Amino acid sequence: MVGFTIALVFSFWILDIRIPSCLWDKEPFTVGSVEEKRPGEYEIHYVAKMWSFDPPLVEVPMGSVLHIYLASLDVNHGFQILNTNVNLMAVPGVVNYAKIRVTDVGDYPVVCHEYCGAGHEKMAGILRVRPAGFQYADTLRKAESAKLTTVAVAVDPAVKQLLASKGCVACHSDNGSSGVGPTFKGLFGRKETLADGSSVEVDDAYLRESIRNPNAKLVKGFQPVMPPLPLTEAEVDLIVNYIKANK
Ligand code: CUA
Repeated sequence: MVGFTIALVFSFWILDIRIPSCLWDKEPFTVGSVEEKRPGEYEIHYVAKMWSFDPPLVEVPMGSVLHIYLASLDVNHGFQILNTNVNLMAVPGVVNYAKIRVTDVGDYPVVCHEYCGAGHEKMAGILRVRPAGFQYADTLRKAESAKLTTVAVAVDPAVKQLLASKGCVACHSDNGSSGVGPTFKGLFGRKETLADGSSVEVDDAYLRESIRNPNAKLVKGFQPVMPPLPLTEAEVDLIVNYIKANK
């Protein structure tokens, strides 16, 4: 008993671990957000929905204390940040809460561990812990100037990892050089002539359609060779934001 009590006190005061709790008095929210409330302390509002987390990518500096608020838009979802002890349920109508201090730089996958329908196994996000000194404000400004819908989604070199792992970079350059597919550089906002002679302005909707269904509106001069890729909504968001920022 004495050992157990010491362990509890130690984890509470020294490791800063709190028991996850349900906040009955907090109004459920519908939009995800990240806000630095005090220096080194962040409030993260996560929204779980079929089948993604909003925000899909959260970046904070090492050493930060995170107050995690979790709501669901539709059904019960799980919410686990791998390699941490954050493990919550997203339940419609209530807000659940956990607090952690992040002490190691790296990417921590955020996964849904409650079966929630056809897209369950693709429901994932990333908590990225950056070296101390990383300025969240910079991310915010970048996100605002790129007119992103979620402030926490910043364009980041790590999206390149995603593009590489999905094979995108084999055909699409990001520096304007030609390839099997159109270059990402300057793609957003460009007027493209399609294979059928009509034209289209590359906007958010066109990018999303082309990622999901590459041959729906094929740009003239390119072959219909891109396969539809199994990407999560969060991954599509990352790629779209990346293309937008690649002016
Ligand atoms: Cu959400 Cu499984």
